[in-house]
Amino acid sequence: MRVDAAPASEREAPTRARLIDGTALAALIRAEVAAEVQALGARGVTPGLSVVLVGNDPASAVYVGAKEKASREAGMAGETIVLPTETTQAELLAVVERLNRDRTVHGILVQMPLPKHIDPDTVIRHIDPSKDVDGFHPVNVGKLLIGHTDGFAPCTPVGIQRMLVHYGVETRGADVVVVGRSTIVGKPMAALLVQSGAGADATVTICHSRTRNLADHTRRADILIVAAGRARMITADMVKPGAVVIDVGMNRIPDASTKSGTRLVGDVDFAAVRDVASLITPVPGGVGPMTIAMLLRNTARSAARTLGA
Ligand code: GUN
Repeated sequence: MRVDAAPASEREAPTRARLIDGTALAALIRAEVAAEVQALGARGVTPGLSVVLVGNDPASAVYVGAKEKASREAGMAGETIVLPTETTQAELLAVVERLNRDRTVHGILVQMPLPKHIDPDTVIRHIDPSKDVDGFHPVNVGKLLIGHTDGFAPCTPVGIQRMLVHYGVETRGADVVVVGRSTIVGKPMAALLVQSGAGADATVTICHSRTRNLADHTRRADILIVAAGRARMITADMVKPGAVVIDVGMNRIPDASTKSGTRLVGDVDFAAVRDVASLITPVPGGVGPMTIAMLLRNTARSAARTLGA
């Protein structure tokens, strides 16, 4: 197999990082999940994922559409419930409670962010933890931190961990720096990597908007994971030569050369950092597809648990 054969242009620049192909790895996982869905179907259970979208944020609508399409392609059942922006918190909680009671629903995902008048923590606490395939409920957050594997870990960090394992990146004893302390990515990412076991056992530093001398931290990282939501904030001088760089950022910036007038970029200055790192995720086509694949995996796992698997 010639998977490592680089094109001539890359052979002339041997320091250039290899790309982590999130789209290809996600396709592999989605095929595994589809096989699991078939096996569950033979035992009388079709995994069902219900996605709830409140309001008309265009980016959220795109993400939700992608999740629905992927779950259908994996052979799952389910629905996307779109509610108007004016939906009250009580109305949303009633929808969540209905889904909690519905035995055909194994996964419930309420897309974030929610409109300002709805408290996301209240909504998340109403989701049955056994159907919380996002891994946001405090019960699942607690299980993750303790290292119990019978909960759900958030999809983006667990997808990143899977990428590192798949690409043979040694995490044991590695200095990992996570930039960003969100509940969706930064904090659970650190919690996963600090556990003992495969794809973990790392020494983890979390940096955030109040961190002093950010570059002093990032330059020490064997593995640098960036989820800060600031376009191209990580420049080449902030990266240790040979580091593995994972870019969670999805920032739309103006670009007059494209038809839409905008372009998607990560939190990492990809073109420059690629010449310093050994392995790097592109945006798009890196972390994004893995998030969806892991959502499907969590949903299939939830359905399997109803059979005692
Ligand atoms: N908004 C951005 N990412 C996510 C995610 O992984 N889950 C949910 N529910 N909302 C999001």
